[in-house]
Amino acid sequence: MLNDQLRRVLQQMPKAELHIHIEGSLEPELIFALAERNGVKLAYASVEALRAAYAFTDLQSFLDIYYAGASVLLKEQDFYDMTAAYLKRAEEDNVRHTEIFFDPQTHTHRGVPMDVIINGIYRACQDSPVSATLILCFLRHLSEEDAIATLEAALPYRDKFIGVGLDSSEVGNPPEKFARVFARSRELGLHLVAHAGEEGPPAYIYTALDTLKVERIDHGVRCLEDQALTERLVREQMALTVCPLSNIKLCVFDKMDQHNLLELLDAGIVATVNSDDPAYFGGYMNDNFIATFEALPLGLSHAQRLARNGFSAAFLPAEQKQKFIDEVDAFFAKV
Ligand code: ADE
Ligand code: ZN
Repeated sequence: MLNDQLRRVLQQMPKAELHIHIEGSLEPELIFALAERNGVKLAYASVEALRAAYAFTDLQSFLDIYYAGASVLLKEQDFYDMTAAYLKRAEEDNVRHTEIFFDPQTHTHRGVPMDVIINGIYRACQDSPVSATLILCFLRHLSEEDAIATLEAALPYRDKFIGVGLDSSEVGNPPEKFARVFARSRELGLHLVAHAGEEGPPAYIYTALDTLKVERIDHGVRCLEDQALTERLVREQMALTVCPLSNIKLCVFDKMDQHNLLELLDAGIVATVNSDDPAYFGGYMNDNFIATFEALPLGLSHAQRLARNGFSAAFLPAEQKQKFIDEVDAFFAKV
């Protein structure tokens, strides 16, 4: 069990969140409210029935429900409300900075215009006291041509997002499938990240690094299966955005006491803690920290290191990063 002091520290320490899919923050209550507002028919009779369906066996079983939940998002105000609700929750968890993923293809394929998506999410970010930036993710189960068309459609709003990512069904859709769209994104000065080594093998982490030239790996927990890869990630100080509750809900690890977060840290990896899809996986940032620290032999020094890692791996100007890291250190100096 966690002692009260460590629990309070985990709750109150300043945090950065670097792996959150905004569509994965849609709580069942908001899904039903938006369905009603927009006249969308859901396959579930009630909030309780929807929540009861959140029993996942793997990534795909989750993605099927996640994409169905996103079908209620039609108007700019819907995207605003979803993002504002997440940012309010993040603020309550003392998240100071967040880099939010969004999946435009989930919406443009249903006829929602790109400007509605980006403007709604962006406006909520501007209205929040939490520092928030956006990362446009390509759905890897779709073609690279579709990803390229999506990037082109988003270019009129280039000033509203800072990077691109790669998500959705990992196995069978390796990073190298998206070599050209990532090269184009790089030319445009966008930051680059990709999900790799969540369900997929270490080989996907190598190609995310070497072919896509990503600056962070999302998940990446399977890196420990490859010693040379682990050593490289440490040498290059390549951050992993680890999502502990997600990994349990999607059966990447059976139980939290089997999660490899401590092994990653002990190996020297720049691991960070994040919520992924908090409405689906049982919790936001503080829930992820508390669940992990309850199950693993982690203490105050790990908490400080994880909080620092979140800011050091953020896509922020150096002075701003340092200001946040100083805030972390000042917080821990008083513990
Ligand atoms: N989309 C939303 N959450 C995801 C995850 N954990 N992995 C891949 N794609 C996702
Ligand atoms: Zn994710």
